[in-house]
Amino acid sequence: MWFTISVPSRQQPLNGNRTGHILETKKQECELPGHTVTEMISASAILARVEELGAAITSDYPDSTRPLLLVGVLKGATLFLADLVRHINRPVEFDFVAVSSYGAATVSSGEVRVLKDLDASVSGKDVIIVEDILDTGLTLRFSYLVESLRARNALSVRICVLLDKPRRRRVPVDVSYRGFEIGDLFVVGYGMDYAERYRNLPYVGCVQFDDPDVR
Ligand code: IMP
Ligand code: MG
Repeated sequence: MWFTISVPSRQQPLNGNRTGHILETKKQECELPGHTVTEMISASAILARVEELGAAITSDYPDSTRPLLLVGVLKGATLFLADLVRHINRPVEFDFVAVSSYGAATVSSGEVRVLKDLDASVSGKDVIIVEDILDTGLTLRFSYLVESLRARNALSVRICVLLDKPRRRRVPVDVSYRGFEIGDLFVVGYGMDYAERYRNLPYVGCVQFDDPDVR
């Protein structure tokens, strides 16, 4: 089985909230039929932006005696968090939570279950929740992650996302650090998956389904 990966033929100027453009394609082996994956944000563009986010966090938390805890949301944020902490130039701890993905029923009942809680206490720590992608906002809102961290005496709680799809938002979410804004696209790579595949792609790719009704 083959799918198409498109790669930029020259370096794209990528800064702040812009995403790349598709310039040319090459074919690559794949196990899943019915779609193509197109490179959208290159590994080097991601790294450049992660460096900027790390620098911003470093300067926003200047008191190195105050513990700073980054909380990654499994599994999609793992690669982003791993790169981000290496660009934060001050002491930092990290931990992970896992939350259930929502279905229609859980959304209407306003519930997203926390499947794995933090290992350590957040009391007296500044906390940054690190997410791969902010889409509808329902997961963050209905997992009550921010509220639960505040209730457990975190000194402060902020949110950092690699990708933001503002057009898809259904509930407001206050984001302090944002890597890239993208349109209403389904993306994979750099930790993000489609049916558990593609998390290991070094870039962010856009999935185009052969059947427009599939998503
Ligand atoms: P939200 O609750 O709609 O904001 O979505 C949050 C979660 O859905 C993200 O953390 C991802 O795990 C997943 N998700 C949303 N959009 C995408 C995507 O385009 N590709 C892969 N996962 C996604
Ligand atoms: Mg996620």
